[in-house]
This record gives sequence, structure tokens and C-alpha cells, in this order.
Amino acid sequence: MVESGTEKDFDVNSSYSCWLRYKRFKDTDLAQKYLKWCSNIAAFEDTSVIQSALSEVNIGINGMLGVKPIISGSIDKPSFIFIGTLEKLKAVDISIDVNDENDIGDEGFLIKSVKTGDKDYIIVTGKTDKGVLYGTFSLLRLISTNTELDGIKRLENPSNPLRIINHWDNIDGSVERGYAGKSIFYANNKITGNLKRIRDYGRLLASIGINGIAINNVNVHKMETRLIREDFLPYVARIANVFREYGIKTYLSINFAAPIEIGDLNTADPFDADVKIWWKKKAEEIYSYIPDFGGFLVKADSEFRPGPFTYNRNHADGANMLAEALVPYGGIVIWRCFVYNCLQDWRDRKTDRAKAAYDHFMPLDGMFLDNVILQIKNGPMDFQVREPVSPLFGGLKKTNTILELQVTQEYTGQQKHLCYLVPMWKEILDFDTYAIGKGSNVKKIVNGKPFNNKYGGIAAVGNVGDDMNWTGFQLAQSNLYGFGRLCWNPDLSKEEITDEWIKLTYSTDKAVVDTISKMLLNSWRIYENYTSPLGIGWMVNPNHHYGPNVDGYEYDKWGTYHRADCKGIGVDRTVKNGTGYTKQYHKENAEMYENLETCPEELLLFFHHVPYIYKLKSGETIIQHIYNTHFKGVEQAINLKEQWKSIKEMVDFDIYQHVIERLEGQIEHAKEWRDVINSYFYRKTGIKDELDRTIY
Ligand code: GCU
Repeated sequence: MVESGTEKDFDVNSSYSCWLRYKRFKDTDLAQKYLKWCSNIAAFEDTSVIQSALSEVNIGINGMLGVKPIISGSIDKPSFIFIGTLEKLKAVDISIDVNDENDIGDEGFLIKSVKTGDKDYIIVTGKTDKGVLYGTFSLLRLISTNTELDGIKRLENPSNPLRIINHWDNIDGSVERGYAGKSIFYANNKITGNLKRIRDYGRLLASIGINGIAINNVNVHKMETRLIREDFLPYVARIANVFREYGIKTYLSINFAAPIEIGDLNTADPFDADVKIWWKKKAEEIYSYIPDFGGFLVKADSEFRPGPFTYNRNHADGANMLAEALVPYGGIVIWRCFVYNCLQDWRDRKTDRAKAAYDHFMPLDGMFLDNVILQIKNGPMDFQVREPVSPLFGGLKKTNTILELQVTQEYTGQQKHLCYLVPMWKEILDFDTYAIGKGSNVKKIVNGKPFNNKYGGIAAVGNVGDDMNWTGFQLAQSNLYGFGRLCWNPDLSKEEITDEWIKLTYSTDKAVVDTISKMLLNSWRIYENYTSPLGIGWMVNPNHHYGPNVDGYEYDKWGTYHRADCKGIGVDRTVKNGTGYTKQYHKENAEMYENLETCPEELLLFFHHVPYIYKLKSGETIIQHIYNTHFKGVEQAINLKEQWKSIKEMVDFDIYQHVIERLEGQIEHAKEWRDVINSYFYRKTGIKDELDRTIY
């Protein structure tokens, strides 16, 4: 089942290496400073994860300082870097503060500079080899960003236990919502043999702390169902073996109807004894190939996927049956809450897709086994440019939950537009759910601690394909980087993450950092300006979801997702007059959204239906705001290009040129958005632009 052919050796060009470029230091004094420690590495373990750490140190130091470090099992040199677990640290009689030792968690690390007598060295240690790997990447990041190591002490533990990327890759090599070429895992209904590329991906993911990967689309069609068949499993295992070396567990999306599709049963009823046995045997088989298999990711009873509803069972019944099969091996079931009836007749004004996930899952709170985790999209709809946070966060209290984000830019410019999502994700993570009083932010809820959940974390739909630069648009690498960094530590500021990425990817030059940082940090707002005002969303072409089409969305055949008529626009989701969605939130937020005065304006049309002449706090009417933002958005897109041009001499020419081309495309497309949206609303309302600009 493996695609024949040799492992292709990719050129490690600058785009391919992403943020692991390890550019040679120009400043020789600085290089000398680091060389003092970096020339000698003391390492004593040979687990595959530690070997990955050492291989990375080798690549990094060689790249940045031009020296191949000597890696030996000795601490005799006056200066060195110790890389290894706490156990080995003790074995060579290096002691650290007992408090530090206690503070290091399972995946955490300590980086510490030590000066004793005639010795001056740096320790990179962790409780586990995974911690050591993360510490090593962190050390290399510190060096790449020119951070002072003298006297350094960094003790870090990841905030989220699960940090997972979901690939929506199909076995024919296509990627659902993929904008960066074909799958890196599959081609022609086979599992690819290109393990080199997969290893490089493992490096990238481990460097930002990702510890899990689901390698196939949540829409598990007939062909993909075979991935858990015995003829495919050895090849899945090959991929898992590579990721394991980088501390990453492999997961598979499964088809709930697999016992019928690839087994010989005629039911997938979770209460059926044969179905239960089928999954138990399947689990046993999978674990015989992949002993540390992560578990199953499941999309059920949504968008035509099979699920327990067929048998009059609920989601807990379905998830628990699978979970039971995984219990003996420590596996988990990640069950998605993206469940709604896509064929719903939306004309009835009480019908509201936004309510669906909460309505389905809240009544089941507390009914899931403790190795089931509910994966909840950030908003109640579907990865729109702006949505409120799903009320399931802080709603569910007796169930493991993880947040699902979308790194791939389905509704946010498809990696043709610059749309840096870290600022959006920061807002989501900082959102206060009030679940257990003030300060119950999403970032706290999802790590599982407030409700003493066994599991917690963040997952995201990845944005990587087989394009040479991984993400199609080179600047979109920043979204993957930012996602990983936020999973590790959601308290990092958006500025910190952005600066880090730019320094690692391009240079530490201030003009470069300032310019690109400004471009990135403003880009989501800019995209929002020329696409989708005040939380309305969905004004996209059907199926592929790219480009403007106000009434276009495929599951809205009546063109009513925005409820726009000639007088007003927006969806009334209030309890008072609307769908009643606002009551799914805790009191503080329910009241804030219910009330037109206190509803945040950027979400006004998500929660309220208002006349076009309704005045915003700025004094602008809604219709004028639509016109203004669309004109402004295009100007801002033009300005992005100007900013990029200002650093032409400071970035590699190939990257410069590639980015310019994308930004030019973005400008043209932004104009199309502006014109389509403005003329639609001008025609609908008959209200002229106050500034009398041309509306086509
Ligand atoms: C969106 C997306 C689909 C995807 C679905 C999901 O609807 O357009 O491609 O399958 O989300 O998250 O399951």
C-alpha cells in the first residue's frame, strides 16, 4: 500500500526550513560568545527522542555558528551544554534546586546556566526525553533570537496537555480545505513512502511543542476507512514511527460505520455486541502495529457522516463504545461537536445553526467516559472571520474538552491573502466564559484544570501540504508557528510570538521585525474590513468558499444567513425576539450579547437585526460602515504591499518576490470583495455612500 519510489531529498532552501533556518551569525563576537558552550555537548542517552534533540543541536549549531559540536558522554570540558533527563543529570552529579526539579512536569524543561569553580555550562533537562527535546528546541530558539544565555534560567511546562494538528488529507492525495498543494502523507490511494518529508514535518511540529497528529480527514470516506485495515496499518505505523521520534502521537479519524464498510457486519449500532467486539479487536490490531497510538478522531452525524443517530443512540453512546475499546491501551476518543443539520430550513426564525452544538452536547455533560474528549470549534458556526466563542466552553463542566481552531485559511483568504490568525486566537483564548466566576477564560477552561478534567488541550486543522514552502503562502507559516506557541503557552503575547517568528524566519534586523510584525498583526482586521462586516460571515461562493457571494453559501439555499432585506441586516439571536441563542452563555455574557447597547460592535450583526440606518458608537450608520470598511480594507491591502516593498533589500529575493505576487493578488481580490459587497448592499438599500465614492 505504499507508494513506491525512493525518498526524495528536498533541498533545504529557506522557505522549506520555515522557522528552523538557523542562519549563520554575521556578528562574530556574538557567535564566539555562544560557541563557548555550544562546541561541546554532553549527552548520555540514546532514546530516539533524545537522538532527535541531538540531531537538531547539530543542525542548529552548525548552521548558526559554523561549527560541528562534539557530542560526548563527558562533562570534563570547562564549558558545555548538558542535554539529558533529570535522571542522567543526577547520574553525573549535577544537582539542581529541588524546587525546580519538582516544578518540571512530564513534558516540561529547564534551561539553566551554571557557574561553579572553573566550570561554566548550560543544562537542558526535563523529566522525560520529550521535555529534553522541547528544551533543546527552546535553547536553539534563544540562540537564533540572540538571547543572552549567561545567567539564564527558563523553566517551562506546556499549558495544554494535548496539542494536536488535524490533517484533512484524503488518501487520493487531495487535502480538504488545503491550500498548499497535495497531501504529504498520501498519493493515488496509497500511503506515501516519503518519510524524509514527514520527518522534517515532525521537526517543525516538535519545535513548537505539538504532541499529536491526526493524519486523515475527519470526513472519512470509503477509501480512507481502509486506513485501519490490516493491509494499510503497517504503513500507518511507518508514519507513526517517524513522528514518535519527535514526541508526536499519531491519531486516525475513523468512520463510525467502519464495521459495515470494511467489516462484515450489517450494523454499526454502538449497543450491538458484535459491533463492540469488532472495535475491540480493531483496537487490539491497531496497537499491535502502533503501541503508542493516540486514538480516534470522530465526526459523526454531521454533514452526511454516519453516527449513532441512525440507531437512535446519542453521541455519548457512540463515543463511549469506541472509548471502551481503547481503554486497555490508554487511547482516547476525540469526538467532534461540529454537529448540526446542514439541510435545516433556515427560514424559520427560531431555527439557528449556532445553537446546534450546545443543544446536542449540553444534555450529555457528565455522560462520557473519561477517555473521551469533546473537540469544540472556537465559534458556534464554522471558522468564520469573526464569531463569538462557543458557549460550550464553560458550559460543559463534567466532560473533557479541547478547543478546535482552523490554521488552514478556509474562510480567511485561503493562503492567498495575508491573514495572520494569532490575534484572533488570542481573543478567543482570553475570552471570559464566567463559568466559575470572573477570570474563567477559555485558555484556562480548555487545559482541563478548572474542572479537574483528565484531559484538555487545543487542536487545529493544519495548513500544510506538499508545496515546497509547506503552506502555499510563505507568510502563512506564521499561523502554524503561532498556533503551536499558543498551545504551549497561551499567555505569550501576540507581539512576542510574532517577533519570534520573524526573527527565526527572516532576520533579527529591527526594520524587518517591525515591518513584518505590523503587517501580520493588522492583517486579520484588514481581511475582515473588506470581507465581512460586524460578525455577519458566510458571504462566500458555494463549496470552495473563496471570494464574495453575499447569498452564496451552499447550505443556505434561501440566501438568509445574514437576514438582509431592504431595511435591515443581521440575525436576531436574542431571547427577547430572536432565536434565543444568547441564553446559552453564562449570565454575564448572555446579558452582554442580548443587549444591543452592550453587544460588542464587531459582533453586532451576529446577535442583532438592525436597520441599515442604525448608528454605531462612531456615529457611522451600519450601511456607511459597510461602505467605509470595504473601501478602507482595499487601501490597507495596498499598504501591505508598500510595507513589504520597504524591506526589499533585507529579505531573500525569492521570498520577497513570492510575497509580492501574493500581495498583488490580494489587492485585486480585495477590490472584487469591496465591489461585490458594496454594490449588493447599495442595490438592496438604495442608500448612497455619503462620500459619493464609486460603487459598481
Ligand atoms: C466545514 C468545512 C468542511 C469540513 C467541516 C468540518 O464545514 O467546509 O470542509 O468538513 O467544516 O469541520 O467537519
